[in-house]
Amino acid sequence: MKKITEICCIGAGYVGGPTMSVIAHKCPEINVTVVDINQERIDQWNQANLDDLPIYEPGLKEIVAQSRGKNLFFSTEIDKAIDKAQMIFISVNTPTKTYGKGKGQAADLKYIELCARNIARVAKDDKIVVEKSTLPVRTAQAIKNILQNTGNEVNFEILSNPEFLAEGTAINDLLNADRVLIGGDETSSGQIAKDALSAIYEHWLPKDRILQTNVWSSELSKLVANAFLAQRVSSINSVSALCETTDANVQEVARAIGFDSRIGPKFLQSSVGFGGSCFQKDILNLVYIARSYGLNEVADYWNQVILINDYQKRRFADNIVTTLYNTVSGKKILFYGWAFKKDTNDTRESAAIYVADALLEEKAEIFVYDPKVSEKQIYSDLDYLNTREPSENRRLLKVIKDPIEASKDAHAIAILTEWDEFKDYDWEKIFDAMLKPAFVFDGRRLLDSKKMKEIGFKYYKIGQS
Ligand code: UDX
Ligand code: ADP
Repeated sequence: MKKITEICCIGAGYVGGPTMSVIAHKCPEINVTVVDINQERIDQWNQANLDDLPIYEPGLKEIVAQSRGKNLFFSTEIDKAIDKAQMIFISVNTPTKTYGKGKGQAADLKYIELCARNIARVAKDDKIVVEKSTLPVRTAQAIKNILQNTGNEVNFEILSNPEFLAEGTAINDLLNADRVLIGGDETSSGQIAKDALSAIYEHWLPKDRILQTNVWSSELSKLVANAFLAQRVSSINSVSALCETTDANVQEVARAIGFDSRIGPKFLQSSVGFGGSCFQKDILNLVYIARSYGLNEVADYWNQVILINDYQKRRFADNIVTTLYNTVSGKKILFYGWAFKKDTNDTRESAAIYVADALLEEKAEIFVYDPKVSEKQIYSDLDYLNTREPSENRRLLKVIKDPIEASKDAHAIAILTEWDEFKDYDWEKIFDAMLKPAFVFDGRRLLDSKKMKEIGFKYYKIGQS
């Protein structure tokens, strides 16, 4: 078997950073170098103060503290790291295309292609190249073509090893993975490569949880897993709308169906809509692939998951406007939470961005508090939508540090992220400070309806009349 002693990972983001930290932690005999073109990000990973790592994940800083400088390194010297490594992970970002063919749907592979060309240029001996970024099916083939046609006559084995970690629980998901998927060629050199990667995970996971498949099954499984998870959220969110117009309670419905062991209880939490870097992108990819093979019914089926998610975000914003007597113009609305879910500082595709955008269109004055998201990030999320001038975003929306003080004279509070701390706030104090009637729109079903109503709030909880 090929023994791996040097790993390089290109891309020091939400996937590359935590995954490599765990590999380094569990495999002390392997040197792991994480490289990135972004100097600022690498500097952050190398900072003495572990509270300022570029990514917030529970348990991450402890693991980085143990391995950094011993067998875990963060660097911008990409060529040097590629040259040394026997195994190279590609963990660069693959956003949805914002231009040209497939705009708004297909994944933009330009960063992947740049990586492949870089590896081909530098590699002087055989390498195993592992695709870790979420990619459309058949990307491994594209990487292979680039490597084989531009490389220095060395042999490249391409593996697909999709990441299933969820943000906020990344370290636990990596340490206790339900399964690891390794896709590779069914040739003898392909098998050697798959076994070499498997041996890394076997340092801490039982072998029967490491599944080997062909490359395309592995790539497709990643998209399908995320599409199924997102579909569950859209399914329960579609039911939440029905519950609000009848006397049903979405949580009771979710609990009742979740007891059916064939359905199961997880991923049935109704919310203001799913966000994150994966769900929407992966479904759009699935839709794009299906359509490009002429499978229009399949494409339409999965696209509906996105349409319901958009509907849910819009419905939440519309409800705020309608409830506040059909106008929010000049009204102070306080947002609790901006991240796409709790325990992460990631805001990609967060429902909060779209709800804010809809309310800003109605000229609301929004004050945002999130315990982990920076002011810079919040403005950058809004500016990226290109709906209005950046100066207008800064005029209408303010980012605040004290969520309780900010409740003074607020017309309404909207809960967009399920941060635990919101549950422990002194809601009576908040009520006293707000204008009356004091409205709370709970997009995460976080608070106790009875208690909130007893305090005097006009309290709306998604999925409940
Ligand atoms: C997801 C997948 O879970 C993970 O396996 C994959 O590798 C990457 O994509 P992530 O995006 O980090 O992970 O978060 P996840 O916990 O899946 O939540 C996604 C979104 O769905 C969040 O906005 C979350 O709030 C929302 N959600 C999730 C619900 O609204 N209700 C639920 O019941 C579950
Ligand atoms: P993900 O959630 O997929 O990890 P991120 O955006 O958090 O996505 O991280 C991807 C990282 O990949 C970024 O830090 C970016 O600078 C880096 N990156 C993108 N292209 C390249 C490249 N060609 N070489 C090195 N790093 C790259």
